[in-house]
Amino acid sequence: MTDDFRPMELWEPGTRRDPHAFYARVRVAGTPVPQYDPAGNRFWIVARHADVLDGLQHPDIGHEVHRHQDRDLSPSPYPPSETERISSRQLIALDPPDHSRLRRLVSTAFTARTVARLEGWIAGVAADLVVQARRLGRFDAVTDLADPLPVNVIAQLVGVPDEDRARFRDWSATIVSASDYDGSATLAFAAYVDELAARRRAEPRDDLLSGLVALEAQGDALDRDELVAMVQLLLIAGQETTVDVIANALRLLLTHPEQWHDLRADPSLASAVVEETLRFRGPVEIVPPRFTFRELDLAGGIIPAFERVGLSLWGANRDPEVFSHPDVFDVHRADVANHIAFGYGSHFCLGASLGRLEARLMLEAVARELPDLRLAVDAAEPADVRLHHGGMLPLEVGPTS
Ligand code: HEM
Repeated sequence: MTDDFRPMELWEPGTRRDPHAFYARVRVAGTPVPQYDPAGNRFWIVARHADVLDGLQHPDIGHEVHRHQDRDLSPSPYPPSETERISSRQLIALDPPDHSRLRRLVSTAFTARTVARLEGWIAGVAADLVVQARRLGRFDAVTDLADPLPVNVIAQLVGVPDEDRARFRDWSATIVSASDYDGSATLAFAAYVDELAARRRAEPRDDLLSGLVALEAQGDALDRDELVAMVQLLLIAGQETTVDVIANALRLLLTHPEQWHDLRADPSLASAVVEETLRFRGPVEIVPPRFTFRELDLAGGIIPAFERVGLSLWGANRDPEVFSHPDVFDVHRADVANHIAFGYGSHFCLGASLGRLEARLMLEAVARELPDLRLAVDAAEPADVRLHHGGMLPLEVGPTS
């Protein structure tokens, strides 16, 4: 029954403190639960594993709702600005045929081999960060360990030369934190991608940008806005997610000392720790909203046409029909592979293998080099690390003071 839910319950402070209890109730409701966001938009929340999978694969649920609406939308008299043009070409917000075309092109350059080649380099960066943390003695898991890793990895992947890294990091910080109010960072970033792409056209190297511009010679390529949008999306999608996984994995390990002990005894458990962190507390609570293109039947109920659907990965990843004792953090569980923290279907995370690699290498480095790591907060249960809300996780190593 959806009558048991208050209309904005998902956004209430009590629910924010424990969203899993909310999703557990949505799972048993047996029908999508309507919720209104602070802007007044109605979302239909879906939280059972099987239903979230249905929603992610449904042919009549997607992003480009304007193409399905039978209304006479009078076109804007103004041409879109450059920042609007770029953001309208983000892979993550497109449907077929544009999504399939862009995804195919990017996948030819962003392969498992491209990612595997980065392993030694990423391990080196993680090792440096861990050595620095040891020197600091007391440090923050987010600021000092996790945050510097992904932006450097994306820069390396794309092929940003060393001398440009500081500028690249500055634009990224502004763009990723969604504080580019006047669009100036996006424009400076776009101009930089143009310049670097021109260099790679003239003199290709072994990097992602060279791979993407090489497609132009075959007559089937990303256009200029698509290329800029793609590099920008890699930053946006790959930064906070990866930082969040690393910081929360450390928090969960340190609050489950027997599992932290297991990892130190056997660093090859790092991969299992990453997977269980993704299941138990992945970075994406609800996938970016989709719309229904017609009235349809989903998750045991009818959703009207052209409405927002909120497919909850947190709900799916704690579904007791799929995971035994789902509310227990257990790096030894056998059913972890069923988690869908990277989504599912056509928009399945393009950077999943890269995100997994970064988190695993950081945890291995921490387990090896910082075995005396402990929380530097008194609370037995440190707050969940939420990047959008400035979540921090103070840690320390060395002699206890
Ligand atoms: C898409 C999660 C890391 C790039 C997604 C989606 C999820 C996700 C749930 C699907 C969104 C949807 O269905 O609307 C994660 C998690 C990460 C992570 C949990 C943790 C490490 C990364 C990294 C990169 C990346 C490191 C890139 C370097 C992307 C891109 C998409 C995407 C480009 C869009 C794919 C598409 O629309 O076809 N990610 N991500 N992600 N992710 Fe990730």
